Order: sequence, then C-alpha cells, then structure tokens
Amino acid sequence: MDWSKLSFSFTPTDKYISCEYEDGIWGKPVISSDINIPLSGLAPSLHYGIECFEGLKAFRGQDGKIRLFRPDENAKRMQSSAAYLGMDAPTTEDFTNLCIMAVKENERYLPPYGSGASLYIRPVLFGSGSQLGIAPAKKQILFIAVAPVGSYSGQGNLVAVNGVIARKYDRAAGHGTGCYKVGGNYAASIHAGQVAKQQGYKAVLYLDPIEHKYIDEFASSNFFGIKDNTYITPLSNSILPSITNKSLEVAAKDLGMKVERRRVPSEELAEFKEVGECGTAVVITPVKSIDDKPDIDASECKCYTYGGIETCTKLYNHIVGIQNGEIKDEHNWCVIL
Ligand code: PLP
Ligand code: COI
Repeated sequence: MDWSKLSFSFTPTDKYISCEYEDGIWGKPVISSDINIPLSGLAPSLHYGIECFEGLKAFRGQDGKIRLFRPDENAKRMQSSAAYLGMDAPTTEDFTNLCIMAVKENERYLPPYGSGASLYIRPVLFGSGSQLGIAPAKKQILFIAVAPVGSYSGQGNLVAVNGVIARKYDRAAGHGTGCYKVGGNYAASIHAGQVAKQQGYKAVLYLDPIEHKYIDEFASSNFFGIKDNTYITPLSNSILPSITNKSLEVAAKDLGMKVERRRVPSEELAEFKEVGECGTAVVITPVKSIDDKPDIDASECKCYTYGGIETCTKLYNHIVGIQNGEIKDEHNWCVIL
C-alpha cells in the first residue's frame, strides 16, 4: 500500500462487523470478510431514510500504540441521531468496543506513524426488516467498515481549497435534521455539490436555512474563521455538532486564543484572516477563497480571499499531535488500544 497516495476513497479491507437488533435486543456481533449485507427490498432505510452514521479515526502513534479519537462522542451523537429516527443505538461502551473490534480485525490497514494517513471507521445504523408504513423500524442493523484514508481533497493535508456559498440550496431545514448525522442531509447536498464541482469548487458553504443571513456549515464539515487571535465558529441548531470543532475550541484556548461560538453573518467573511473547514474526514482544511453569488453558477460574484494558513497549521499540528501521541492528551480524548 502506498500510504502517501491515499485520499478519501474506499479501499476494501479484511473484515466487516455487523450486529442485528430486534425487539429491543442486540444480537452478537458477526465478523465477516463479505462487505455485502442481505437486506429486504422493503427495508425502511431504503424507502424512508431511517439511517444514521458516524465517522471517526484510528491512528498509529509515535509510540507504536493505536489511538481512537473520542469514540464516546461519536457514540453519543449516534444515540442522538438514532433517537430522532426512532431507532435504538448501541450503548457508548458497545459502540466503542465494536469500533475497536473493527480496527483490530483490520490492523494491517492502519497507516504507519508519520504517513499523514489514518484508519477511518464508518459505523452505520439502519432500519432493516420489511415494512410498508411510515413508522419506526422494528429491526435494525449496525454495520462497521474501516478504510485507510489520506487527505479528503486528495491534494494533501493542509492544502487550501476554494469554496462557494450555496445561496439557492439548503442541506437541512431550520428545525429539521441538520444537527443529526442522517443520510438524508447528504442526499440533499448532492445536487448543489455537483453544480459546485462543475464550476470548479471543492467546498460548498450553506447558510442558515431560515434567514439565509448567517453561516451554517460546509456540506461535510463545520466552518471556522480566525481574526484577532480568536477562533470563531457558528452557533446554529441546523449544523452537525462536530467533534473536531468541539476539540478545536478547547485546543484554541489551550494555545492561548480566544474562542467565540455565535452567529456569523455572511458579510463577516470579509473580516477573517483565515477560514477553514473542520471535521473528521477533512481534519482542518484551510479555505483560500469563498465566492458569494446569487447562485452557484452565476457570473456575478463577491469574492472573499484568504492568504495565510498560519493558525490553521498551528491548530492542525496540535490536534494531529494529540492523535499521534506526540502531544500530551491533557483532556483524555484518545482511547488507547
Ligand atoms: N458537518 C458535517 C455536515 C459533517 O458531515 C461532518 C463530518 O462528520 C462534520 C461537520 C464534522 O464532524 P466531526 O468533526 O464530528 O467529524
Ligand atoms: C466525516 O468527517 O466523518 C464525515 O462523515 C464527512 C463526510 C465524508 C460525510
């Protein structure tokens, strides 16, 4: 495996974990070398989108140990997403143990220390069984795959991307599913993502769906801006509560910065020294420009540009340093296997 060439595409691994649930009881986890799962054509996940997922990473440290970054937070978020969809998620302990099992079963795919790559863990929970009516699923499956991944953009870590505001599209409703990690939010972002890609943009930035005045988040990551030694990130109930962002707020304070979580009007884009995307997959990806247009493919454009990546680099090195065991894990974020 050429670890340095990895992007965020799927590489098959040795083993996949699945666990079935029926009538309030979880079955024993099954370890299989087959990625396929038998599923009813009337599964409510297929028809009604009763599905939620998580994303977390495992790292090979400087000391040779394997670290999982904050799996308890992913477990809690899956519990929150599942509850909204009328499903029962595994307990925090079971979720963490199943993720550990998936990593151990695929240890040879864990990128080595210093490669800049990591092992992405993707648990998905969905309604199975056969059902026609719109109601909570009676049966569920939890499935976990892992994949070695490099930079999300495929261009290398800390390589800045260009972004565009999706003024004509919302990924989630104002009082809807934006704060849950459900598949429907991503389905809702496919069209705008395709239009943006055709226009040469890597990142799509959504505004708050009620007033379209404030910054919400990118399609697959949270937004932050830096000015006056302050880390500023949107307060909104239609964005995913990012575990990376929550960790960066703490890291920024630890590094002597101020932190503000508040509504961020789109005009404030003119005032930031740096802008970035943050999330498990993107880690910290600096944003070099954001185009604000009446529509993604409009010619009229207000363009915000960002030169440096100094603070993004400082925050990136700090968080990745903790994940790799190079920097002391003061807040006990990592679970060491
Ligand atoms: N926002 C969205 C829409 C995402 O898909 C993700 C990825 O999980 C994030 C934010 C970042 O969340 P986290 O840092 O927990 O991975
Ligand atoms: C993640 O960062 O874990 C994500 O889920 C983002 C995206 C690939 C959906």
